[in-house]
Amino acid sequence: MENLLEIRNLKISTLRGRQKVLLLDEVDLNIPKKCSFGIVGESGCGKSITANAVMNMLPYPLEVSHGSIRFDSRSGEVDILKLDKKALRAIRGQEISMIFQEPMTSLDPIFTVEMQMYEALSFHHPGMSRPQMRERALEMLHRVNIPRPEQTLTSYPHQLSGGQLQRIMIAIALINDPKLLLADEPTTALDVTIQAQILRLMNDLKEQNDTSIVMITHDLGVIAETCEEVAVFYAGQIVEQANVMELFHHTAHPYTLGLLQAVTSLGSETRMLYTIPGIVPPGGQWSEGCRFSDRCSRCTDRCRQAMPALSEISPGHWCRCWLNSEEVAQ
Ligand SMILES: Nc1ncnc2c1ncn2[C@@H]1O[C@H](COP(=O)(O)OP(=O)(O)OP(=O)(O)O)[C@@H](O)[C@H]1O
Ligand code: SF4
Ligand SMILES: [Mg+2]
Repeated sequence: MENLLEIRNLKISTLRGRQKVLLLDEVDLNIPKKCSFGIVGESGCGKSITANAVMNMLPYPLEVSHGSIRFDSRSGEVDILKLDKKALRAIRGQEISMIFQEPMTSLDPIFTVEMQMYEALSFHHPGMSRPQMRERALEMLHRVNIPRPEQTLTSYPHQLSGGQLQRIMIAIALINDPKLLLADEPTTALDVTIQAQILRLMNDLKEQNDTSIVMITHDLGVIAETCEEVAVFYAGQIVEQANVMELFHHTAHPYTLGLLQAVTSLGSETRMLYTIPGIVPPGGQWSEGCRFSDRCSRCTDRCRQAMPALSEISPGHWCRCWLNSEEVAQ
């Protein structure tokens, strides 16, 4: 297998009453080895459910209704969706780790940092002695730049700041040297300076460990700082995908342009944050044609009638928009 992770034709649905509603629609992704890959889009576009599907951890009633998620594990190529519970436990936290969108809720308030780090270690290394676990835990806290690591080990989560908790989450996620780290909005809750520190730290750790990182965010600024390749999600679909430099310099999809404007207007004198008018239509309320048509200033009748395909507009650059489609150019 050429890539570390290959997602093919992934569809995720949920139940609303008795009705099955599609939330993610035919998503294909290739995550190369040792790559930082960004997934960007507004709230509700399907970023987190995609990551949860990779962990095979979708909450009921969500389910994968179609597709495959192939992973190049240490014991060979597997389809994560077909693994039994035992095989999944061996991969989760060991080969694939996730930093969840709400870190404060994924650390247990009644256990010290030490106990939570040891639990992550001992699950995958049952033979490790306590001094060995302590040594590894301290090493990880050093690497994520936690001041006074010995003292932090014996602290409870409520005794630590948001930035420290985030670093501890990263330390736990990386403690078993995973091949793939899924980072779901890892810095959104933090102030800008700490955000920058944590993003730099994740880049360093990626270089040191050869880990691939999937960075999930609503902010193209974060993508620019951390990623090599990026997929833009809108209403459960990929609407644009390219190398980061290509995406920023030759932006093709009107939705991506809107996201970019939201980033650049932050730096303007007035500090008015641009937002794309309208909202993301939820699953079950998608238009027949282009799902961005209600919000797009360049929408035509054709856009409302038929959905554009995701097509390669230049080598490695994919876009789902009639403006870029060869059919329109003819
Ligand atoms: N547990 C759930 N039950 C029902 N619907 C859900 C559930 N989790 C997510 N969804 C729906 O799936 C769609 C995608 O949600 P997802 O959480 O992946 O969005 P997201 O892109 O991560 O957004 P955000 O930026 O807010 O985190 C949304 O329409 C959401 O309402
Ligand atoms: S297909 Fe039409 S509505 Fe959709 S993004 Fe392109 S121009 Fe806008
Ligand atoms: Mg999310």
